Amino acid sequence: MKILVLNGPNINMLGIREPGIYGSRSYEYLVETLKKHADEKGIEISFYQSNHEGALVDAIQQAYFDKIDGIVFNPAAYTHTSIAIADALKAVGIPTVEVHISDVSSREEFRQISYVRDVAVKTISGKGLDGYALALDYLTDGE
Ligand code: DQA
Repeated sequence: MKILVLNGPNINMLGIREPGIYGSRSYEYLVETLKKHADEKGIEISFYQSNHEGALVDAIQQAYFDKIDGIVFNPAAYTHTSIAIADALKAVGIPTVEVHISDVSSREEFRQISYVRDVAVKTISGKGLDGYALALDYLTDGE
């Protein structure tokens, strides 16, 4: 089983950006802990982060050709704006779990729209970095 962990804009700034909302752990920490979690489960895992919408669309398309079985995806701010990203997910049809570190439902009005939600098999929001491992477990074990 091959899983891609995809992160959108500013997720590379974890630990620096608004620690009161996103916590004090870095993106590197997230990658290391998820790698460990995947290793323990015997899952092949890869990571990609970009601040650019088109690069994320390219990564989603590439996932199809790389025969990726599932995507753990935090589209970050593009969640609320990007039809191109939602269309790419629809195009490839790879089961995707939408992850948000913060609880977007209790934040600003503009964060209440998610173009990804309808395409995703599940949305996990407000569980901090643990949300990524929960998403991985959902894709691999259905729980
Ligand atoms: C986020 C929530 C988004 O609204 C925001 O733009 C982000 C991160 C989260 O993980 O909580 O960059 O996706």
